[in-house]
Amino acid sequence: MRVAVVGATGYAGQEVVSIVSRHPQFEIVALTSNRQQGEDVRILFPFLTQGPEKYVGIEDVGKSEPSWVFSCLGPKQAAPYFSQWISQGARIVDLSADFRFPDAALYEKVYGEHPAPELIALSQQGYADDPNMFYPANMRILGNPGCYPTAFYLAMGPLTAPGLSYPFVIVDGKSGVSGAGRGPREDLMMAEMAENVTPYNEPGKHRHTLEMERVTGATVLFQPHYMPMSRGLELTIYIPNSPISSRDAADIWRERYARNTFVAVLPEGQKPHTRRVRGTNRVELGSAWDERSRTLVLYSVLDNLQKGAAGQAVQHVNRWMNWPTELGLE
Ligand SMILES: NC(=O)c1ccc[n+]([C@@H]2O[C@H](COP(=O)([O-])OP(=O)(O)OC[C@H]3O[C@@H](n4cnc5c(N)ncnc54)[C@H](OP(=O)(O)O)[C@@H]3O)[C@@H](O)[C@H]2O)c1
Repeated sequence: MRVAVVGATGYAGQEVVSIVSRHPQFEIVALTSNRQQGEDVRILFPFLTQGPEKYVGIEDVGKSEPSWVFSCLGPKQAAPYFSQWISQGARIVDLSADFRFPDAALYEKVYGEHPAPELIALSQQGYADDPNMFYPANMRILGNPGCYPTAFYLAMGPLTAPGLSYPFVIVDGKSGVSGAGRGPREDLMMAEMAENVTPYNEPGKHRHTLEMERVTGATVLFQPHYMPMSRGLELTIYIPNSPISSRDAADIWRERYARNTFVAVLPEGQKPHTRRVRGTNRVELGSAWDERSRTLVLYSVLDNLQKGAAGQAVQHVNRWMNWPTELGLE
């Protein structure tokens, strides 16, 4: 199938190119860059042995007649082109936030005016590891979830069931700096970030908070931090007065993920490591209980560019097409 990667030079886009180039069902037909149009794609992607030689601009994607577009731009940048690509027969996986909500009003709470509200009816949003995720016949756009919400969903989603409520959850997030994208920023320069850990955003104000709250209905107090590493993400989730113990949580996860090769539930007492999931579509989950404060503590680690972005995007396509879930992601 013919694939265009829009925003191929960005961190998420590079990861999509890497996976798609190894995927047996895909053939890359267009790679876009804004600043490097006309330049040689093999400088960044020396492993590409076939496909386009030069980057094109986003306005030229339709000329390559893709069946799939992986759209890896910031919010609102690519959606104005979606109607054209869909009318040419393409299906789109959007890695931005534009189609992560089922209605424009929710989107607008966080991101302001929606760039293409008329297309939301053709979109579906959700997590590729959700066994109840479905791909309706009229669907043309998949709204790929954010990286932090994915780590949160994988831990909290299975624990959400009738009779189990979590009114208030504290989420402590730590991310490698690639989570901020490839654009230059003084505060993320090597000399600023090496051997340095810093919180960013005001507590509860990060734009992924609403996506997390939709997983459980809980009020989420989320504080993210940048870590001195290029990629990887860890969440420590605190649930005061939890209705379930850490052993209950691990048992529920084991049942949910019994046939899911991407999610590892660690034995009691073991803690997850970002390094073990680096560059993979895998996730590690762990749990602990603090008796003194009666708080359940959950840990979730993933690679922000794989499971948090490109890996999950391809996993969604595999499920959408009824191909093996692991295809191209092993
Ligand atoms: N980074 C992550 O961990 C992560 C995780 C999950 C989801 N995402 C989402 O994925 C999307 C991309 O993130 P990223 O981190 O990969 O960003 P990035 O590294 O900053 O890359 C941005 C891409 O957009 C292109 N671009 C920028 N302005 C453009 C314009 N006006 N017109 C056309 N193309 C333009 C850039 O091309 P040139 O620079 O070559 O011109 C580059 O390819 C975002 O929506 C982000 O929220 C990112």
